[in-house]
Amino acid sequence: MLSRLTSQKIPPLRPVPCLSEDALAGLVRAPRSMPPKYFYDDRGSQLFDAICETPEYYPTRTEDALLAHYAGEIIDQVRPKHIVEFGSGAARKTRQLLDVCDELGGAAAYWPFDVCESMLLESGRRLVRDYEWLTVNALVGDYLAGLQHVPRPPGSCLYLFLGGTIGNFSETQAQRFLHDVRAQMSADDHLLLGADRIKDVAVLNAAYNDRQGVTAAFNLNLLEVLNRELDGDFHLPQFEHQALFNADDSQMEMYLVSSCNQSVTLKALQKTLDFHAGEKILTEISRKFTPERLNTLLTDAGFNVVQHLQPANGYFSLMLAKPVI
Ligand code: SAH
Ligand code: TRP
Repeated sequence: MLSRLTSQKIPPLRPVPCLSEDALAGLVRAPRSMPPKYFYDDRGSQLFDAICETPEYYPTRTEDALLAHYAGEIIDQVRPKHIVEFGSGAARKTRQLLDVCDELGGAAAYWPFDVCESMLLESGRRLVRDYEWLTVNALVGDYLAGLQHVPRPPGSCLYLFLGGTIGNFSETQAQRFLHDVRAQMSADDHLLLGADRIKDVAVLNAAYNDRQGVTAAFNLNLLEVLNRELDGDFHLPQFEHQALFNADDSQMEMYLVSSCNQSVTLKALQKTLDFHAGEKILTEISRKFTPERLNTLLTDAGFNVVQHLQPANGYFSLMLAKPVI
């Protein structure tokens, strides 16, 4: 069974800073920030999975329902030999598409690409167990580092970028990423892009401030990662999770806020960080889109939108796009 699950590292094409470099650039002076990929160690990936189960976090359920409804249509139109997914995580929603492939007699190979190797292997094991025809080729790497080393197997490919993760990119990163994906694609390939929409601020704020505190634990886990990897002494009870909607920039902003004046040492960097009470570290943005904005992003990157799938409440968009050849 395990022979249907393989794993390979995807080397960066562009130089990417390592954790020490990112921490030096992002934490030593204000405004402080860290790139979001460091959330996803083993525990972080499990906590993100738990966020998706909270009653307040509507994106996962909404996107899953859209996929359940339209998977037949999508697979029928695309007929993929391969499904390549960026930031696949637990790959639960992907099953809606694999279920349809199953009904059609299988054939698609699945190529999940993620920074979190443990999650890739765990979800890969479950997938090859549940779909006896499926091959899973896990790809471990950073999808912002260039995609030219991602294998391009022969036959039509369906590229997936779900979960609204495109919203975690800056405008420049989003343009560059879509451009990189486009450059990988042939005429009969498709991209299915999931993106979160602008909506009632109370709904947005609740989604990133769940009552059980799973989102807070996820955000604070970044400090555990820094403590472990950089020999740090962040004292977690002295930092608070904060998530706010910034209406001017149409984005949720996630912060870790220092609840007192304090000093934190990162021994591996030989740096001491002085925080005053209320000082923040920006840990993530999550941009919210209009359908027009998504159309423009895709068109500018060389795509034609062939279908826009959305629920009646307009909470989330799935865009099926083809490269303009
Ligand atoms: N697609 C899933 C998971 C979304 S969370 C869903 O819709 O629920 C974002 C995922 O992207 C995580 O699995 C995380 O490990 C991965 N990720 C974050 N930054 C990354 C990067 N720079 N390169 C590769 N994967 C990344
Ligand atoms: N891609 C997810 C999103 O933007 C990531 C996410 C969900 C997240 N909840 C979070 C990131 C809380 C940081 C903190 O919706």
